[in-house]
Formats: sequence, C-alpha cells, structure tokens
Amino acid sequence: MKYDFDKVVDRRGTGAIKWDVKENELPMWVADMDFEAAPAIKEALAKRVEHGIFGYADCPDSWYQAYIDFYTEEHGLAISKDSLLFCLGVVPTLSSSVRALTEVGDEVVVMPPVYNIFYNSIRNSHRVIVEVPLRKEGDRYSMDYEGLEKAFASSKCKLCFFCNPGNPVARIWEKEEIARLIDIASRNGVIILSDEIHGEITRPGHPYVPFLSVPGSEKVGYAAVSPTKCFNLAGIHTSAIIIPNESVRAKVNRQINTDEVAEPNVFSCVAAEAALSKGREWLRQMREYVFANRDYAESYINSHIKGLHALPGDATYLMWIDCRKISDKSATFLKFLRENTGLFLNDGGVYGKTGDGFIRMNLATTRANVEDGLRRLEEGVRLFLLDR
Ligand SMILES: Cc1ncc(COP(=O)(O)O)c(C=O)c1O
Repeated sequence: MKYDFDKVVDRRGTGAIKWDVKENELPMWVADMDFEAAPAIKEALAKRVEHGIFGYADCPDSWYQAYIDFYTEEHGLAISKDSLLFCLGVVPTLSSSVRALTEVGDEVVVMPPVYNIFYNSIRNSHRVIVEVPLRKEGDRYSMDYEGLEKAFASSKCKLCFFCNPGNPVARIWEKEEIARLIDIASRNGVIILSDEIHGEITRPGHPYVPFLSVPGSEKVGYAAVSPTKCFNLAGIHTSAIIIPNESVRAKVNRQINTDEVAEPNVFSCVAAEAALSKGREWLRQMREYVFANRDYAESYINSHIKGLHALPGDATYLMWIDCRKISDKSATFLKFLRENTGLFLNDGGVYGKTGDGFIRMNLATTRANVEDGLRRLEEGVRLFLLDR
C-alpha cells in the first residue's frame, strides 16, 4: 500500500467531536475516520492557505467538472453542469429540501433503522415523520414495498429520504430494489431524496448504485452527494446536490439560498476538487483497508464474543451488531461498556425503534484501534453478563 492507514494521528485536543473523550476511552462512534486526508487534498489546502486572502468564495467551473468527471469515470453516470448545486452539507440539503418541497403538517417517509439526523431534519421543520421500517430476514435488510405503497398513498405524503447505501444497515441497494422504489414514488407523486454520502465506501469490487443511474429516477427524485465521508473531510463542509428536474431544482435552490447554506467557504471547493480529481488511488486503498477491518471485526465478534452477532455488510465503515441476546436495551449495555472498558459506541435505538437492541461500531481507524476495541467489547460483554 502506498498510503499508511496504520499511522497514528493524535486527534485529542484538535476540536474533534469524536475524540473529546476521557484519556482511557476509545471512541468508535461518530462517523468520521481517523485517517489523515490524502496528500493531494492536504497540498491543495496548504496552497490555498499560503495564498493568504480568504474573502468570499464561489464555485469555479473546475468544481463542476470534478463532479462530472468523477461520476462519469467511476460510475458511468452522466450529470450535466446545470443539474449541480453546491450545498454546505448533506444534512443542510435534507433540511432545506423538507422546507422546499413540503408544507408544515405534510408527511416525510424514512426507512429505519436509518441515519438519526433524518428524523431531526423533518421534526425541526414541523413536518410529520412516517416510518416504514426495513424488513429484516436473517442478516439481510430489505425495503418494505407494501408499507411504502401504503405510506406514499397518503395525500399528505410528499417526500421520502432514502439512505443509499444504508447507514447503519450497511446495505448496497440493488438496481431492481431502487427501481421498485421509483415505481411506487412515481405512481404516488412522492419525491425521493437519495442521500449518497456513503456511496464511495463500499467493498472493493462492489460499487454502489447511484439513484440517478436507475431509469425513471430523474422524474421522481434527486441525489445528495459529497466527498466528505469517504475522504474524511466532514469538518470542511462541502457537498453537492444533483437535481435533473428543473422545477424541483428551482425550489431547492431557492431554499438553500434562503437558509444560507448555498455558499462555499474558501476551502469547500478546493478540498472537494482535489479529492474527486486527485484522491482516487487513496480512496481505493482506503476501501481495502477499511473492508479488511470490517472482515476482521465481523469474524472476531462472531467467533469470540458469545451473545453478540455482527451483521455482514458491503457498504460503510459502520458495523451493525445485534446484542439482543445479552440485552433488549442496547443503551443500558453501552453505558455499562463505556463505564467499564472505555469503549464508546453508538446505540442502535437512535436510528429508530427497530434499531433498539443493536449497536454501531465505527471501523474507520487503525487496525491497532480495531483490535483494542474488539478486546474491550469482549471484556465488556463478559463483565456485563457477570453483573446481571
Ligand atoms: C447518511 C448520512 N447523511 C448525512 C451525513 C452528514 O452529512 P453532512 O456532514 O454533509 O451534513 C451523515 C453523517 O454521518 C450520514 O451518515
């Protein structure tokens, strides 16, 4: 490997949310990576800092071209310059979209277990959350199409947030599955917003399926994409919205401007462009490293830690672990785990009721941390069961 993902970078005292923990604690929760950004990104940012003037910024043509080239070359997806909007983040896109495309009291569909902030984006604008939980058969989650038919049929239902690939369920949705979602949405006049922030974090050889690559998609929906998750740039605040439909684009564009999230800071476009155009080899190697961590953790948990079951996954660096055999209340177990071993994970219950009894572990860190985390998890389960 050309890039060193084993390199330890101390993140304590850098204002990192994830690492604002006690000295003995190991944080494997919030979804960012403990890897240094690709050299090309650091160089581009350093050059921008060296320039020394930090006035108001705009997106240059090269920013649009970087997205167009990336999606054409990596996914065979043609996107036009006109369809691209800059937004400071995917969460701002979700929240502004709710305000742009629905009225107070309208219904927005989510499919839990799913990224918890989907709920906030709907609730904060006083819209109604309608849950159509994913179905779990064995280790595999799938969409509940009958449930979606019913939910979308409501005259108040206007929008659906689709997490593609799924966080925390780690699923790459297949073309046929997305096609069924599109079919139900188009028959009921519901708009789909596909959140593709985890799109590039997939098992080597298993690319995700961009929503907009599925026939009929551009009539019913659009996608929020960003290099922040896969290149570890979340604190830079940069993303793009791809909206082929002109009238939807006009509404969303108006709203992101009203909400003041449509203008980049001086680093937003520089970092995104460098990542998309010069970071691809780094991205490929990161995937290999992270999925080796994933396979190692899955096999360790399933063979060493009785009472826990790690679900397999081809997307995200977030492992979804069933702990219902040791406790129905995953929050209780996690509190115990943190207090007794220092390991800090996410509680599945925050991703919707059907996530209760599960925990989420972030594996985008050094192998040494993964090994340490797994030992703490094993010890935590042992102590928890003794304590009962
Ligand atoms: C599905 C999903 N969407 C959006 C975000 C955050 O997006 P942003 O940082 O661009 O606002 C996350 C972060 O974990 C996520 O998992």
